[in-house]
Amino acid sequence: MEALVNGIHLHHVQAGNGIPLLLIHGYPLDHALWQPQVNGLADTNVARVIAPDLRGFGQSDAPEGAYTMETYADDLFALLDVLQVERAVVCGLSMGGYIALAFWQKYANRVRGLILVDTRAGADAPATRQARLDMVEQVKQHGSAPAADAMLPRVLSQSTRQSRPDLVESVHAMMLRQPPTGIIGAQLGMAERPDSTPTLPTITVPALVVFGAEDVITPAETEGRGLANAIPGAKLVIIPNAGHLSNLEQPEVFNTAVRKFLSANERQ
Ligand code: MLT
Repeated sequence: MEALVNGIHLHHVQAGNGIPLLLIHGYPLDHALWQPQVNGLADTNVARVIAPDLRGFGQSDAPEGAYTMETYADDLFALLDVLQVERAVVCGLSMGGYIALAFWQKYANRVRGLILVDTRAGADAPATRQARLDMVEQVKQHGSAPAADAMLPRVLSQSTRQSRPDLVESVHAMMLRQPPTGIIGAQLGMAERPDSTPTLPTITVPALVVFGAEDVITPAETEGRGLANAIPGAKLVIIPNAGHLSNLEQPEVFNTAVRKFLSANERQ
């Protein structure tokens, strides 16, 4: 499905009839990241799953320029309006988590719960920011492949890499199909994102923090525990044998945690 928001077409899939659950993918990925949740959560009608392709990714339009986390949040706010969703549980993985926090900062009254997956609240260190700008130059010259090749070895756990060549291949293909304009827009936007750490104690809705135990990009023991400790009442789930893409690597465990969270949310 397509929605016209903020002057661009945003592609999204929807499934199920339960609590609206907005799933925000990471970089450099698209809504297909959430296929196990679209299948596994909507099936039982626990959730009305809404999985968009962010601007610049998947089948959504990819305008030129930096995509700030606030811009992405504005797009998603407009999408919820088009879909007539009053309040959603907002779930974001990695860059999707940066966006979920930006969404909370600006549109808290549209949020009924937050799920932060393999992400962080802090801004980039100077070296990370520089690496993003270097990647932008590489993508301008060579297309999406340098971004895909740099990310692929870091996003999956060792066990997934050894036992699931099919999954490794499909994640690589997902990264390779993202347009250079979208990758550049996301890198420039992430490089300038502010520190959201002061936002964490302001979160007044139920929150779930989910991390892969083997995540090397946003480690569970530091980033995951840090988020859960800073958000009032947040629950932390650390998933064994999973890396940065924990929802894709261990979908059953991930979906069970989300289902439990949604059931508690339903009663509120
Ligand atoms: C992601 O998975 O979205 C990225 O690791 C985010 C980032 O580059 O900071």
